[in-house]
Parts: sequence; C-alpha cells; structure tokens
Amino acid sequence: MSLIRKLSVLVVAAMAMGSVASHDYGDALTKSILFYEGQRSGKLPSTQRMTWREDSALRDGSDFGVDLVGGYYDAGDNVKFTFPMAFSITMLAWSVLEFGNSMGSDLQHSLDAIQWGTDYLLKATDVPGVVFAQVGDPYGDHNCWERPEDMDTPRTPYAVSKEHPGSEVSAEIAAALAASSMVFRHFNQTYSALLLNRARMVFEFADEYRGSYNDSIGPWVCPFYCDFSGYQDELVWAAVWLMRATRAPFYWSYVLANIQNLDKTSSFAEFGWDAKHAGINVLVSRLVKSQAPYSPEPFTTNADRFVCSVLPESQTVSVSYSPGGLLIKPGGSNLQRPAALSFLLLVYSRALRRDNRVVRCDNVVAKPSRLIQFARSQVDYILGSNPLNMSYMVGYGNKFPEKIHHRGSSLPSVSQHPQHIDCNGGDPYFWSDNPNPNFLTGAVVGGPDIQDYYSDSRVNFVHSEPTTYINAPLVGLLAYFKTH
Ligand SMILES: *[C@@H]1O[C@H](CO)[C@@H](O)[C@H](O)[C@H]1NC(C)=O
Ligand SMILES: *[C@@H]1O[C@H](CO)[C@@H](O)[C@H](O)[C@H]1NC(C)=O
Ligand SMILES: *[C@@H]1O[C@H](CO)[C@@H](O)[C@H](O)[C@H]1NC(C)=O
Repeated sequence: MSLIRKLSVLVVAAMAMGSVASHDYGDALTKSILFYEGQRSGKLPSTQRMTWREDSALRDGSDFGVDLVGGYYDAGDNVKFTFPMAFSITMLAWSVLEFGNSMGSDLQHSLDAIQWGTDYLLKATDVPGVVFAQVGDPYGDHNCWERPEDMDTPRTPYAVSKEHPGSEVSAEIAAALAASSMVFRHFNQTYSALLLNRARMVFEFADEYRGSYNDSIGPWVCPFYCDFSGYQDELVWAAVWLMRATRAPFYWSYVLANIQNLDKTSSFAEFGWDAKHAGINVLVSRLVKSQAPYSPEPFTTNADRFVCSVLPESQTVSVSYSPGGLLIKPGGSNLQRPAALSFLLLVYSRALRRDNRVVRCDNVVAKPSRLIQFARSQVDYILGSNPLNMSYMVGYGNKFPEKIHHRGSSLPSVSQHPQHIDCNGGDPYFWSDNPNPNFLTGAVVGGPDIQDYYSDSRVNFVHSEPTTYINAPLVGLLAYFKTH
C-alpha cells in the first residue's frame, strides 16, 4: 500500500515537472517539412500534400523578361526575400547532410523542399552578374491581407548587380547551392553539378563586387531584412561550404585570409539569416581532420566560446532564459534563435565526441552529452514541455497556435471561397477571433515572450508569425531526436 502510494507520488511529481513528457519527434519532423509546401510560390506539382494551397504568382519576373516563378514566400506575407530564403535552404541542406540518415521516408520530402528552393535560386542567378534579391513590393504586399492565389499587388523584382552589389545575399545563395549540391550528389549527379557550378559563379560575383545590398536596394529590403552584421560573414560562410563541396585549396586559403575580417567580439552567440560567424566556426570544426589542409584554429576556440555564451550554467552566458527555460534574445520571431543555436550545439557535440574533447567554460565543464541535452530541452519546450503546456508547432500536440499571422492560412481556401478576395477584403479575417480556417501544418511561430506567455493573436506578428528559417534547423534537430 505504502509502496503504491510512493509510486503514485513519484508519478505525479514527474508529471508536474513536465520533464517526462516524451515527444513524438517523428511526427513533428514530418510536419516541420510539410510546412514548406504551404510556403510554396509558383505552379504546384501534382504531389502537393498541403492541398488548400493552389498556384500563385505565375507571372513573377515576366514583365521584366525573366522567369522568377517559384521559390518560397518568406513568412506570413507573400514577398519572396531571397536572403532569408537562401539561408533556410542552406540550413535544410545542412540538416540533411548531418541527419538525413534519421529521416526515413521524410528524406524524400526534405529533398523536395530543398529543390523547390534551389530551382528558384538557379532562376534568380541565371543572368551572369545579376542576382535577384527579392520579388514583391514589400509595402504593397504588407498593406494587403490577401491570399497568394489572389495577389494583385506589385510583384516588382529587385536585383543586385556589379554596379549595385549585394555580397550578403549573393554569398548566401552560393552557400545554399554548394550545400545542396552535396545533398544531391547521391541522388542526381547532373543536378548536383549544376548547383555546384552555379555556386562557384555566384560566389565569385559576390566576392569581386563587394558591397551590402543595404546600399543598393535598401529601401525595399530594409527594414524587413536589412543586413546588420555586414557581408564578410556570408563570404566566409559560402567559402567554407564551397571548400566542403569542392575540396579546392583556394577556398580554404580564402577562409583563412578573410576570417580575420569578422568582428570577433559581437557575434559569438548569434546565428541566423544575418549572422553566420558561429555557424562558420562549428562547420569548420565539424570537417574531418584528414581533410587537408584543414586546421582547427581559430575555429574550435571560437566555437568553444560560442558554447560558453549559450549554456545557462556558464559565467559568460550572453543570452537570456525564460523561467520555463526557453532561450531568448532580443528581436522578433524568437524561436528562430533556440532552434538555430541548438542546431549548432548538436552538430558541435558530434565534433567534440569525434575529437574526444569537452568544452571548458571557466570552471564549468560541458561534455558533448550536455550540449545534446540542452538542444533537446529547447526542442521539447517548442513541442509543449513549457509552462503553458502548449506546442508552438501548428498541428502538433493538443494545444497549438490557432490564429497565426499568415495570410493564406487565415483566409478561406480558393476551393472553399472561389471568389477573389481583394487587398482590403481580407481585413475581416485578419481581425476575426476565429481560428484560422486552414492548418499551416508544421509551421513554428515566433513563440512566447520572456515570461513564457503567448497570446495567440494574429495581430501580434512578432510572436504569431511563422518563417521559413525558424523551421529549417528544427528539421535537423527533430531528425536526430527521432532516432536518439
Ligand atoms: C537530374 O537533374 C537533371 C538536371 O536538373 C534533370 O534534367 C533530370 O531530370 C534529373 N534526373 C532525375 C532522375 O531526376
Ligand atoms: C544596413 O542598414 C542598417 C540600418 O540602417 C545598418 O544598421 C547596418 O549597419 C547596415 N549594414 C551594412 C552592412 O551597411
Ligand atoms: C501543465 O501541465 C501540468 C502537468 O499536467 C499541470 O500541472 C499544469 O497545471 C498545466 N499548466 C497549464 C497552464 O495548463
């Protein structure tokens, strides 16, 4: 009797801590990839599984004599911002390169998600010396609440060129194409070679004509995807990916010569569409040592410092944590940060294990298992192990965001409501208290505030909007935890 009572006390205690809640990582993985189908622009294939979406933006580029049909809508709007789109593709490709073995039947869907992006990046870089950095007038788009299928806002393309350069967007495209070329090497050598060849050309353009797209097309990319951290990091990041894909010594020399240009003080705990420094250090550390002429410094020292800037027990931690344990940094769409930083920690744990190393943060010793445990805690929080017991992935778990800031999801589908809904015609749906009629399954939103509170409000885009770059690193994390 007393034993049973003790056991039930234990069970209750464990439940209250929320730590025993085990998640269906496989289900979350499937959904995290499905999300990309909801963001597709262009002519949808017969294999489209998210069927409430239909063809859209079929004339992108045509007024200017170019074919810019396809690619991804960035977030809850219908603009195609190439800079964050390319970063999302780089991260999907890295997810597959590291964790593709754990994806099972979702591997093919991941490849499709990558190729939907790379096919577009090939179009955006088809004219030598020109890179299309954006399609869609962001002011026209943001002023309307319209389905992509109804769009009648200006689909203006914005390009960078030799005279008006944009090294960050161009180099990120080169990184995405180089990483993806490695993914496709095993599946289609012709396509892989096409991607790699283009990656080299676009990198050359980015490097030779240096400048920030802030100064070339700033009024349209800012304040949405203004380049704050400069373009030096993207140039080195692209060179590392090209080094991995080609093994050409030129790229390694380039990395060593240019790594010094990066600001060493500000970006250790930063990794996302704008800031690649921590990603560079982890990516280089992950390369096998036999891959001459690889040398580990300064990359592993910097990667160690990155770890110490993230782990909550470290004295040099430079990120914040909510009471429920979620990593928080200033700025919108916060869940991109726990996702991307956890991805790096997980990848770095593999480098540490291979090299039989630990990370020393002053008197705190972080073993590889601690990095993995940390990454898992962030993933679990996102999936529902948090004070609200709420999943931040649409369609995963019992309780998840229902009023996400997403035009297509919040309006009735074209098959339910065939009549055109114009720019202001969507307003009643935007202001409605009803849940969105279409599930953007797998979308992970910006997430809760620093007090673990989430209001589930369409108006509050900082917290309720999904983006392509929140999901991309999660795809890799979920694949790993599905099998470990
Ligand atoms: C491989 O890629 C090439 C170039 O994109 C394409 O034409 C071909 O259809 C692809 N082959 C397969 C089997 O998918
Ligand atoms: C881009 O513009 C923003 C905002 O004006 C500025 O803070 C940033 O330093 C600029 N970046 C570059 C690389 O010039
Ligand atoms: C979350 O779940 C735990 C354990 O079941 C419960 O004790 C707690 O009250 C729940 N919190 C909310 C906000 O529902």
